[in-house]
Amino acid sequence: MVMVLLLLLLCCLMTLDCGATGEQSNTTYFVNSAVCKMPYVDPFTEDVLKIMTPKKLEKCRSDSDIIVAEYDFDMKVYRLHIREEQAVSWYKRNTTLECKYEKIVRDLINKQVDNSFRVLYRRTLTQDFLVPPDLHYALVHCAVVNGKEKRVIQSDGIAFVQDYDGRSSEELPEKIEEHPKPSVLIFGIDAMSRINLRRTMHKTFRYLQQPGWYTLQGLNKVGDNTLPNLLAMLTGYSAEDTDKICDVRKLGCFDKLPFIWKRFKDLNYTTAMAEDKMNISTFNYLKPGFIEQPVDYYLRPLLMAMMKTFNGSEFFDKNLCLGRHLTFAYLWDFAKQFIQRFIRTAKPMFGLFWTNSFSHDYFDMTFALDDLFVEYFKQFEGDGLFNRSIVILTSDHGMRYGYLRQITTGYLEERMPMFYIYLPPWFRRKYPRLVGNLVKNRNRLSSTFDIYMTLQHLLQLNSTKNADIQPMSATCPTCQSLFYRLPVNRTCEQAGITEKWCTCHPRVTVTMEPYARPMALAIIRQMNDDLVKKNLSDLCANFTLTNIIYLDHIIELNRNATADDSEQYYVIEFSTAPNIGIFEVTFSWINRTATLNMDINEISRLSIYAPDSKCVSDPISKKFCMCKNAIRINSLRAGTPN
Ligand SMILES: *[C@@H]1O[C@H](CO)[C@@H](O)[C@H](O)[C@H]1NC(C)=O
Ligand SMILES: *[C@@H]1O[C@H](CO)[C@@H](O)[C@H](O)[C@H]1NC(C)=O
Ligand SMILES: *[C@@H]1O[C@H](CO)[C@@H](O)[C@H](O)[C@H]1NC(C)=O
Ligand SMILES: *[C@@H]1O[C@H](CO)[C@@H](O)[C@H](O)[C@H]1NC(C)=O
Ligand SMILES: *[C@@H]1O[C@H](CO)[C@@H](O)[C@H](O)[C@H]1NC(C)=O
Ligand SMILES: *[C@@H]1O[C@H](CO)[C@@H](O)[C@H](O)[C@H]1NC(C)=O
Ligand SMILES: *[C@@H]1O[C@H](CO)[C@@H](O)[C@H](O)[C@H]1NC(C)=O
Ligand SMILES: *[C@@H]1O[C@H](CO)[C@@H](O)[C@H](O)[C@H]1NC(C)=O
Ligand SMILES: *[C@@H]1O[C@H](CO)[C@@H](O)[C@H](O)[C@H]1NC(C)=O
Ligand SMILES: *[C@@H]1O[C@H](CO)[C@@H](O)[C@H](O)[C@H]1NC(C)=O
Ligand SMILES: *[C@@H]1O[C@H](CO)[C@@H](O)[C@H](O)[C@H]1NC(C)=O
Ligand SMILES: *[C@@H]1O[C@H](CO)[C@@H](O)[C@H](O)[C@H]1NC(C)=O
Repeated sequence: MVMVLLLLLLCCLMTLDCGATGEQSNTTYFVNSAVCKMPYVDPFTEDVLKIMTPKKLEKCRSDSDIIVAEYDFDMKVYRLHIREEQAVSWYKRNTTLECKYEKIVRDLINKQVDNSFRVLYRRTLTQDFLVPPDLHYALVHCAVVNGKEKRVIQSDGIAFVQDYDGRSSEELPEKIEEHPKPSVLIFGIDAMSRINLRRTMHKTFRYLQQPGWYTLQGLNKVGDNTLPNLLAMLTGYSAEDTDKICDVRKLGCFDKLPFIWKRFKDLNYTTAMAEDKMNISTFNYLKPGFIEQPVDYYLRPLLMAMMKTFNGSEFFDKNLCLGRHLTFAYLWDFAKQFIQRFIRTAKPMFGLFWTNSFSHDYFDMTFALDDLFVEYFKQFEGDGLFNRSIVILTSDHGMRYGYLRQITTGYLEERMPMFYIYLPPWFRRKYPRLVGNLVKNRNRLSSTFDIYMTLQHLLQLNSTKNADIQPMSATCPTCQSLFYRLPVNRTCEQAGITEKWCTCHPRVTVTMEPYARPMALAIIRQMNDDLVKKNLSDLCANFTLTNIIYLDHIIELNRNATADDSEQYYVIEFSTAPNIGIFEVTFSWINRTATLNMDINEISRLSIYAPDSKCVSDPISKKFCMCKNAIRINSLRAGTPN
């Protein structure tokens, strides 16, 4: 099967009338219980529509691949084919084509194993070369040679999903129903709320309305950025609780954590994991990554080699392209190979494929991805994925900064990641009660810890109640599989969601009250004290308040009547000088004593911080540092943001 990706030149039409196929448009709450009122968010409000621009996808390169890899299912071997006809435009008289390949491996000697790669050897490539089974990643180069003159005309990177044990190729039993353990493939789009999926990926959204797909409208995130939410989903631990096992900033810590793929591996699954953008990868962004390769099939060494070897400046967008194609395409092609290779084998598959290249920085860039995304799902369909596997499309959180975050619904949208799960026909027939429960849970409060329990459940389908599923989430013992009924009156606390991220409570705007300003000043004082405490006051300027954008009082629905009524929760958004910092803080306040209580590390920075914070490297400090050497705007003129 040819693995070359045909990049389609796509024109994104902004068709907004998907109401007929979608979620009811007159719902007012996603969750509506006595203790949780999670408001419905309209994806198509005027303030978003007016700035949203459909993006167009272009090819990274205009020429066609000279080298293509094909897997021969009869011979069980990869073959590299040189398409000489693709090189003729470079030929002059007497030129010949010369192609070479380099064997790439993870560099186990390097201290930063996950950020390294090694070229083991470089050899000349012959036509229809049979790839040896120990070659997992290769860089390939083709050059035109004319006497002593030699010019490289194409370079690329290729991953091979090789057999690593004979059992991977045992055939599947005839009846899938008799297979006790379903394959589980998780596809993730970083920073994508369910609302933004509907807003920017119309075709994908429509695809997800087909029979067999289920969603959760009451899913609430549990941590600020990607790592804590993925830790919850994949280990059942919060970031605070993994700290008790080891410090994730130290090399070797991630290797120790009980990632769910280890459980799948123990139960004889074939495992894969990959992300597309190397610099902002979940386990590598300002973190050291893994020492041991975490799964059987791991794309990172190849993409690392490509990123460090190839010069990206000739692409239409160097943030989206790598080598000769979209970084996203290398990732999804890897998933496709993994699926094609193992869909028909006796061992089930577990895969996590996480893309951030399109979605991380601009909320509407995913317009450009929509057609291609559906195209891949249709290819997976053709490979038989949906006939037998469980497929999850999910995210970590919504957009955390920029325009989308600053409009009124941004607060909610940030906290509402998407979750879609596909259950194949045999699963629906065999487990109708579990499916019924999942449907009931659609509009109940759920969290990423519940997704962890759901994955555990898929490994323990003989369980009869949630308590049978072991181990349970260490951080949230009241979290549970989504295949069992969630309580109607579930509180954020029961779902492992802290007050800061909880979207259950109604809010009343009190910006004009006289206590708003003392509250804002108290918070800013604490932020400045924190700069001193972290020894950053030489590098970072103190903050001063320029404007209170809003102050909301949180009406706690599950308020314990005997609790101290004088402590109240608020959300405030304000701007600061120098430059323009826009912050949002959830805090509690005791009026009688004017006591402020907040977790400084959980303050949200809504304005983009990259240009202000180059002088520090710690991810939390970056949010709170206006580098003294980067003051661009006169403090006095830094007015209200618009
Ligand atoms: C909208 O609300 C009305 C009244 O509550 C209800 O009858 C109708 O079915 C709802 N429509 C949808 C699409 O949910
Ligand atoms: C082409 O190659 C042949 C043999 O190497 C040589 O004799 C001839 O001069 C070359 N012609 C050109 C135009 O380089
Ligand atoms: C995994 O496979 C091995 C070898 O076929 C087998 O001995 C073992 O029982 C299997 N383990 C599980 C949990 O199925
Ligand atoms: C990614 O990181 C590499 C070094 O690890 C650096 O050379 C490169 O400029 C970075 N790229 C981006 C887009 O930040
Ligand atoms: C990358 O390519 C650009 C344009 O072709 C060139 O200006 C630049 O020097 C190249 N950089 C490297 C490191 O090769
Ligand atoms: C998947 O199932 C459908 C319906 O049963 C069938 O038509 C199709 O051929 C199957 N596809 C594969 C690749 O097995
Ligand atoms: C499910 O099966 C596993 C392995 O056979 C067993 O250890 C476990 O006790 C079973 N659980 C229940 C609830 O039957
Ligand atoms: C939820 O709480 C409300 C108010 O306390 C109560 O009336 C209702 O019966 C509860 N529902 C369930 C299913 O427990
Ligand atoms: C900055 O804030 C700290 C802590 O509140 C304070 O001690 C210090 O005097 C302030 N520096 C300036 C220049 O205002
Ligand atoms: C504080 O920072 C300064 C300069 O940024 C540095 O010289 C000093 O050693 C630091 N002190 C501590 C205790 O880290
Ligand atoms: C209310 O708070 C008291 C004291 O903190 C505690 O003992 C009690 O269990 C709480 N009740 C509920 C319903 O949470
Ligand atoms: C705080 O207390 C003062 C008087 O002590 C009172 O006037 C004011 O309304 C209170 N504010 C809130 C938000 O309770």
